[in-house]
Amino acid sequence: MKTQRIAVIPGDGIGNEVMPEGLRVVAAAAAKFDLPLSFQRFDWANCDYWQRTGRMMPDDWFAQLQDFDAIYFGAVGWPALVPDHISLWGSLLRFRREFDQYVNLRPVRLMPGVPCPLANKQPGDIDFYVVRENTEGEYSAVGGRMYEGTERETVLQESIFTRKGTDRILKYAFELANSRPRKLLTAATKSNGIAISMPWWDERVAAMAANYPEVSWDKQHIDILCARFVLQPERFDVVVGSNLFGDILSDLGPACAGTIGIAPSANLNPERRFPSLFEPVHGSAPDIYGRNIANPIGMIWSGAMMLDFLGNGNERYTAAHDAILRAIEATIADGPRTPDMGGTADTTAVGTAIAAAL
Ligand code: NAD
Ligand code: IPM
Ligand code: MN
Repeated sequence: MKTQRIAVIPGDGIGNEVMPEGLRVVAAAAAKFDLPLSFQRFDWANCDYWQRTGRMMPDDWFAQLQDFDAIYFGAVGWPALVPDHISLWGSLLRFRREFDQYVNLRPVRLMPGVPCPLANKQPGDIDFYVVRENTEGEYSAVGGRMYEGTERETVLQESIFTRKGTDRILKYAFELANSRPRKLLTAATKSNGIAISMPWWDERVAAMAANYPEVSWDKQHIDILCARFVLQPERFDVVVGSNLFGDILSDLGPACAGTIGIAPSANLNPERRFPSLFEPVHGSAPDIYGRNIANPIGMIWSGAMMLDFLGNGNERYTAAHDAILRAIEATIADGPRTPDMGGTADTTAVGTAIAAAL
């Protein structure tokens, strides 16, 4: 198999603390399973770069990255230095849009040994995927401010839902549900209140469902869906949502499963026309940065998802993914833990333990 080229972008804050642990474990897996990987680090797409240059990325960022097979990404955002909408629309959200990473796949799993904030839940009760639309919807830069500073001050922010963009994420989610033993799909909606886009979204869900007679599906308004994540997480198998609903569900789900510190994500261009991007769900966590106490498992699990995607069915890559997951589970059950999981270990100790467990 050809060498897989990985662009490494640590970003801001704890992105810089968890990235070395992600690379440590991915490199250990590459050595064990004889995977041909190469890594190139980029020190832009962070707020220090913005402070030096007035931009988040160089003008030729697209050309610099487009021939990589994957981007391994930490986190971006340092609101004390740069407003979040500037830093994120100048980096991560550009990658997702311009590399057409329209699937944001976010597994949620209660791992054995993780303290669960929900009463009486066992591993197995929380085991589902959030499939988030990643390029349109409520995340838009269309709109504007009018009559600024007057009593008539008005702000307009449009949502954009296209048939192509909606159908392709629904198809991905139904295919995923169809491939899983329980074959359940829940579509997040809010068609009672959001009276144009969401009734239309529900119609597209029903039309796609007609192609998957073996999948049992329902739609749930986002408000009660959030409540059921907390009360009955065992109901869920594949949950598909628009960009904003998927964003919210993919912090809530991992919080229900103990900590957002272990949650991974894969921003996929399934057609492989452009590099896909793998990153933890969490952000740069300014409140804990600099203490080396961030949980590196979200970064490490994202690395496992990256190998699985790069392998595209190749058995050594699949084995590397599975081995990293088993090493994560073994370490969570019986090894050092960071404070978000009730432990006292530091970031490096957890990454080192997972690499050793491999
Ligand atoms: P955050 O995810 O950075 O932090 C939320 C809370 O979770 C904090 O208390 C933090 O300490 C904790 N936390 C996060 N990751 C952790 C880890 N690995 N281990 C232990 N605890 C962890 O969210 P926020 O505070 O809303 O955002 C901070 C900055 O990060 C902002 O600039 C925001 O825009 C950005 N952000 C970026 C991404 C991304 O790059 N994908 C995602 C979310 C937020
Ligand atoms: C995420 C983050 C981003 C999002 C922010 C930082 C723009 O919260 O990856 O979940 O909302 O998509
Ligand atoms: Mn988020």
